Amino acid sequence: MPTIREVARKAGVSSATVSHVANNTRFVSEDVRERVKTAMRELNYRPNALARSLRRGETHTLGLILPDSSNPFFAEVGHAIESEAFALGYSVILCNTDNDENKERIYTEVLENKQLDGIIFVGAGENRESISQIVKNGLPLVVVDREMGNLELDTVTTENYQGGLLATQHLISLGHKVIGCITGPSNITPSADRVTGYRAALQQAGIPIEESLIARGDFHASSGYSAALQLLAHDPRPTAIFVCNDIMAIGALRAAAQLSLSVPENVAIVGFDDIELASYTTPPLTTVAQPKQEIGQLAVKLIFERMGNPSLPPRRIILSTQLVIRESSTRS
Ligand code: RIB
Repeated sequence: MPTIREVARKAGVSSATVSHVANNTRFVSEDVRERVKTAMRELNYRPNALARSLRRGETHTLGLILPDSSNPFFAEVGHAIESEAFALGYSVILCNTDNDENKERIYTEVLENKQLDGIIFVGAGENRESISQIVKNGLPLVVVDREMGNLELDTVTTENYQGGLLATQHLISLGHKVIGCITGPSNITPSADRVTGYRAALQQAGIPIEESLIARGDFHASSGYSAALQLLAHDPRPTAIFVCNDIMAIGALRAAAQLSLSVPENVAIVGFDDIELASYTTPPLTTVAQPKQEIGQLAVKLIFERMGNPSLPPRRIILSTQLVIRESSTRS
């Protein structure tokens, strides 16, 4: 098991600096921090957890609560969080709630009994009970992706409204006028904001909003498939569909193929997230990219700063989204 001294020697810094990086107890320049993290990774350094927890009441462990670990978006964000925390000598306990608020409550209690150093939290829905419990117990907390209403908390999310607007404006720019939308769960703020962006783009282009062209999905592929079949049976048939996440968009691609509709010639499809799979569908998926790596790294940065200084004012970071054009919307 490498010692803190061996990490320091490899990074060319003092043992105290290694300790400050691992505990986030003092400002360290980005360059030195990266050198120390690299040395920790290469030596597979693990701080002496037992000694630390006895000495400082810390377990060097973070909790991560995700609503659907089977969804590649969360898998990629969770991977970024785990990699960043591990490089800083912290372990991560992942809890999957399946978008179930009861399960979320159970896992919140389980994590609280583990004397964690902090929790990174993606909500299952609108329920604030779990979050309020964590805040009441004074545990450092960062909310990711889904805003938690009026609670003043460290938050990392993305420009969902802007993303829905960009996606729909892209389809309008290609000449589409009958544009469907497949939503995510109604109680999830990112989905609602994307649909609002879709509506705004139609309104700005003077295209009437047809409620019958907005179909309900649940962020799973099967719901994208069935919602697309429903929309493609609409008269007039939509020549384009904006889908509120990539996994449902993949279901929509399957529905188009089943109806022998060519994408994008007969129906253009745009997703949201830019998961790794989006580049490998047939045709490759046009989508609104979320900066998943940056979301994860920022969540870890905020929780470390919060652990180091509980009295910091809450920070709300909204990252931009970016339209990635591929062949599911245009061949050109
Ligand atoms: O694909 C899962 C969706 O749920 C993502 O778009 C993410 O933003 C989350 O809200």
